Amino acid sequence: MSTAGRLPGHPHIARKNATLHVEGVPLSALAREHGTPLFVYSKQWMLDALGAYQRGFEGRDAWVCYAIKANSSLGVLRVFAEAGCGFDIVSGGELARVLAAGADPAKVIFSGVGKTKSEMRQALAAGIGCFNVESEAEIDVLNAVALEEGRPASISVRINPNVDPKTHPYISTGLKGNKFGVAHDRAVAIYQHAASLPGLRVVGIDCHIGSQITEASPYLEALERVLDLVEAIEKTGIVLHHLDFGGGLGIDYNGDTPPAADALWRQLLARLDARGFGRRRLIVEPGRSLVGNAGVCVTEVLYTKPGAEKNFCIVDAAMNDLPRPAMYQAFHRIVPVVERQGEAVTYDVVGPVCESGDWIGRDRALTVEAGELLAVLSAGAYSMAMASNYNTRGRAAEVLVSGERANLIRRRETIEDQLRSERLGD
Ligand code: LLP
Repeated sequence: MSTAGRLPGHPHIARKNATLHVEGVPLSALAREHGTPLFVYSKQWMLDALGAYQRGFEGRDAWVCYAIKANSSLGVLRVFAEAGCGFDIVSGGELARVLAAGADPAKVIFSGVGKTKSEMRQALAAGIGCFNVESEAEIDVLNAVALEEGRPASISVRINPNVDPKTHPYISTGLKGNKFGVAHDRAVAIYQHAASLPGLRVVGIDCHIGSQITEASPYLEALERVLDLVEAIEKTGIVLHHLDFGGGLGIDYNGDTPPAADALWRQLLARLDARGFGRRRLIVEPGRSLVGNAGVCVTEVLYTKPGAEKNFCIVDAAMNDLPRPAMYQAFHRIVPVVERQGEAVTYDVVGPVCESGDWIGRDRALTVEAGELLAVLSAGAYSMAMASNYNTRGRAAEVLVSGERANLIRRRETIEDQLRSERLGD
């Protein structure tokens, strides 16, 4: 693809003859064929994002375990499975998804504060690589389940390093007040207890400090704290075969400038080498940075409506499709699919859901009228995966683009799909 018309920060999205394309495919044609709202993903963007991690880890023993909570659609998982990724999962449902997409179970790690016994059994039976356990109580339950099943569970304990990731409070996870991980000062005792249990094999240590992190410093801080603990734990005779630094690397939503994955890892590896840990197996769990800017959501303008204080641009995508603005006041760029001349008007772009929180963008200058299409950018992560049926809206369709080819990887959800599991009752 030529560089002409590329959107800044979105190298696989470009305007050609006024029309927005994802790789070689015009979004207007996809909207005509599949309707709106429609998620469209660039396969090449995902592979390039993964490539930055792979470059960063060249010559090292490292696993990139894609955190599928960011986008768990099977067609997306297949891209990463075929590229040799492991997966970070947080539920039995996510386990079923990665297995359906062809994952190697040995490279699946299971995170989350609330694993049920049945999820533990399911994961043991599948032969997953590691449970990232998050509490003393979970350690004891997992030990009991592993003994019942006659399959030892490999574990890593998630440490809460008490580091401020400088991101939105809802997506900070490594501070003392968060529900995640075990406290730093309890860690050695917890490891000793875990190592004494016959159903468990202690194999690693992990941390994850938050999401949409745009600076290297919180990672560097967390790394030093985790390595301090590794030294203290190994003094007791326990060997940690891998070090897992979680995910969290941010993307460019609105001129954000997170470090590139390879640049970040150059810095982190220098510290790991300096402290003598550079040859350990390393695991990372990136989600957003592997898919976020691969995706756009195409939506049709239903009405424009002048208001007393604000003008509204009412589109057919809503908070059930794109929950991030309502949940985190998140910013997503919104651009017309076909650019044209005309006076721009400042609108709040909102969906049809009956809540004032149902907005997608505020105060956006757009030249647009009913029937035209808009593209909501940076919609590859935490959009479809967090979509709901609120207002009995069917979930959108999804298309994966590779070069000139467009593959429908999820058909639009029908009302029959939604009603199937319900009963009128007696
Ligand atoms: N590992 C663990 C244990 C996690 O909890 C998460 C994300 C990740 C990895 C992946 O983090 P990422 O690389 O995607 O930042 N819905 C929110 C983000 C929630 C993140 C939850 N945990 C949003 O839309 O901003």
